Amino acid sequence: MPTERQSSEVITRQPLADADAQPQGVRSVCSNATPPVESWRFADATVLAPMEGITNPTFRRFMAEGGGIGLLCTEFIRITQQAPCSKQIARQVQRPLGVPLSVQVMGNDATQMAEAAAIVSDAGADVVDINLGCPMPRVVRKGVGSAMLKDPVILRRVLEQMRAKTPGLLSAKIRAGFDDASGVIATAKLIEAVGVDFITVHPRRRCDFYQGVADWRIIATLVQELNIPVIGNGDVWYAADALRMQRETGCHAVMIGRPALRNPWIFQQVEQLHRGLDPVAPDGAMVVDHLLAIKRCYENGFAERSSRKSKAARNLIGPMKELLHWLGRAVDDRRDFQRRVLRLGSVDELLAESERTLCKLGSDQLDLDAFGSLGLERSGSALGIEPSAETIASASSSVPPSSFSSATERRHATSSSSTRFDAAPFDAAQSTSTHAPGPAP
Ligand SMILES: Cc1cc2nc3c(=O)[nH]c(=O)nc-3n(C[C@H](O)[C@H](O)[C@H](O)COP(=O)(O)O)c2cc1C
Repeated sequence: MPTERQSSEVITRQPLADADAQPQGVRSVCSNATPPVESWRFADATVLAPMEGITNPTFRRFMAEGGGIGLLCTEFIRITQQAPCSKQIARQVQRPLGVPLSVQVMGNDATQMAEAAAIVSDAGADVVDINLGCPMPRVVRKGVGSAMLKDPVILRRVLEQMRAKTPGLLSAKIRAGFDDASGVIATAKLIEAVGVDFITVHPRRRCDFYQGVADWRIIATLVQELNIPVIGNGDVWYAADALRMQRETGCHAVMIGRPALRNPWIFQQVEQLHRGLDPVAPDGAMVVDHLLAIKRCYENGFAERSSRKSKAARNLIGPMKELLHWLGRAVDDRRDFQRRVLRLGSVDELLAESERTLCKLGSDQLDLDAFGSLGLERSGSALGIEPSAETIASASSSVPPSSFSSATERRHATSSSSTRFDAAPFDAAQSTSTHAPGPAP
């Protein structure tokens, strides 16, 4: 266990504009919700989540330019039993506009993970992060990612060795558990005891993959149980939800992944809300401009050689389709739009299709405003989660309305969520029975 760590500059974040405005009905789990502000090290209490295939250096640079992000994360770097390649790792360590960077590694070989942590630190990363949450079968089969939540002996060994080789900040990103969430507090305490500086929790179990709604009560519980900062993650679909997550759970910072693909303005909006400003409400023309800017950013990243430029354009087709999948969520004939997008084979065709479909939409038609005025997405909650209008609509079209006695029951019938919808605080000891596993994906 190291005794000396580079103390990175501590930049006190602004207190939440509405931190005192605790909503009625907040239960005791949230009553001490305002965290000590000095324990979060970065200027903004927001983190761009690691996303494999997406948060590459170009995407990170693009997002950093939008502002409002306290910490950028790389996608995971897989560390096997072979000595890690320092050149390959160092390539990931690019810190656009000086925004702090967290580099994530994933593996269970303690020696190589420690070596990787040293390389990442030397290359200038602000944070070394370990992936303890990836649910993918190809990953879990190798005993890494979320599979490590099942093995505290290996987990401790890997973390201890990484800690010894990481002079700066070391963090861990966990899920609530593998098959049940009953061990989440013990796992988090083990991670804290080893000397990890902060922890991110995505409060779904591995078996949930991405189903259901993230149970923010698990975040609130860890905030109360731990003495290190906790970053809350999962289903922060609208900027206002980021402030609500902090208010309800007391988490020190909010990590945002898919919602940043759906709404690239979300970090700016969070910052604007914190400052008491009117948050930007993008319209269709802004969405198309955004797509054009992404294309330019990718091309410029590879501008020095035209062969690489055309490779960049080809590489952008997949991410662009992913973005359009999210950005087009509010389009009237959404499924039709998504089918058309899937069939297209070039970035220019994708841009033309977006111009045709999205450009004409006003800011009140896109659900990209800070408050989610159309309410198309279901965000998490630490208080119990109400169903969205869309969920109720789909529930009532597939199940006779008389089967339901309340909105809460309707939610149970339409979701395989691990989340309970009553307002009881999360109880880790009860979590196997109360968090019924979702169906195998
Ligand atoms: C396409 C994709 C790739 C992801 N890759 C990673 C990864 O490399 N490392 C990691 O810790 N989590 C990864 N995640 C999980 C996200 O970081 C995040 O925990 C999850 O999406 C929930 O947050 P959200 O609701 O804000 O998206 C990935 C998620 C997605 C959708």
